[in-house]
Amino acid sequence: MKKFILSPSILSADFSNLSSEIKKIEEVPNSWVHIDVMDGHFVPNLTFGACVVSSLRRKTDLFFDAHLMVDNPENLIEDFANAGTNAITFHVEETHFPLRLIKKIKKYNMKVGVSLNPATPFDALTGILPYVDILLIMSVEPGFSGQSFISFSVDKIKRAVEFREKRNLNYLISVDGGINDKTAESVLNAGADILVTGSFFFKNDFDFVKKFFESLRDK
Ligand code: DX5
Ligand code: ZN
Repeated sequence: MKKFILSPSILSADFSNLSSEIKKIEEVPNSWVHIDVMDGHFVPNLTFGACVVSSLRRKTDLFFDAHLMVDNPENLIEDFANAGTNAITFHVEETHFPLRLIKKIKKYNMKVGVSLNPATPFDALTGILPYVDILLIMSVEPGFSGQSFISFSVDKIKRAVEFREKRNLNYLISVDGGINDKTAESVLNAGADILVTGSFFFKNDFDFVKKFFESLRDK
């Protein structure tokens, strides 16, 4: 199997014990931390902001990818940059001015990700993809962990691979939602570079989870 990045989402972690939950991620080679930021407007759920990121930054050198599920994401960029975020992923549905937002994120030397909801067609992104580092394909409706993988997301991953080749682009393809021991392999086979995993990673026996992802890397 090709090399992939595993990006556990701390949305499913034990919030009273975040620094030891982060240690688990450190045990996985080639891993990032996926940080789901929700504002109760763009999505119904509410999570955490830049102050949590800055506390975690003191505990680890892992790469932090903040997935913003908020209205007006442009207002949060500076705070997340100062907190030690390495990449900001915003939703194409959140802003009328994605290129301006991309410029702002780059100004703070962070990587740029763009995400799309399951119902948003891939074509909504074609004007934006030349300027981004990461394409985050949502394979559930954003807002909550523990939902089932939407199988038509696999077609979107294939489309993203084709478009990248055709246009000679470099973005990494990340997939978020319902990734577990039943779905991960098909997502990798379709061409994903990054697997985001919430409930599967944090709510199962850690040795089992670690061994599962090791076995995928060995394939
Ligand atoms: C959903 C979040 C996901 C979520 C994934 O809005 O963006 O990152 O934590 O959780 P699972 O892996 O449980 O679907
Ligand atoms: Zn996410």
